[in-house]
Amino acid sequence: MKLVIISGSVYGTADLVADEAACLANAAGLQATRMKTPSVDTLLAEHADALLVCCATTGMGEIPDNLMSFHIELRDRFPLFTDVPFGVIALGDTAYGDTFCLAGEQFRDTFEELQAREARSMLRLDASETVTPETDAEPWLADFFAALRAEV
Ligand SMILES: Cc1cc2nc3c(=O)[nH]c(=O)nc-3n(C[C@H](O)[C@H](O)[C@H](O)COP(=O)(O)O)c2cc1C
Repeated sequence: MKLVIISGSVYGTADLVADEAACLANAAGLQATRMKTPSVDTLLAEHADALLVCCATTGMGEIPDNLMSFHIELRDRFPLFTDVPFGVIALGDTAYGDTFCLAGEQFRDTFEELQAREARSMLRLDASETVTPETDAEPWLADFFAALRAEV
């Protein structure tokens, strides 16, 4: 099963979590591919069996620059990912109040509207609580990969 892992990051933490996810996915027998600046066309060309988005929130609840145009393009072109399993790891900080993990939530909502199917409820990683998000994500990732493997 081919898993495309997309990361949206300003300072590199979400990239780190996504890199760790790719290592663990490959070790779990999935074929992981990383994308940092996807477009709709480059994503479609991957023919992904499953998707994972690791996305930080920046500004006042905004998507990081490297994924901003991708998200706009998804909403403009509306390519359907019918029944494609996906997951979102949202990185944020509760110190930002109402905008906590809003960028990850936007990707989750968009992929749901594109008819993809959330294989495991979104993981929220709070920078106020942890300095090792890549380790904290491991149990969630193990469950996510198990859910994907159960699909084959
Ligand atoms: C300028 C700035 C703005 C931020 N805005 C938000 C926000 O609105 N909501 C949120 O949940 N986290 C916010 N954060 C916290 C980051 O999402 C969090 O620290 C994350 O782990 C950073 O990931 P990155 O290293 O991949 O960029 C902000 C951080 C910075 C530095």
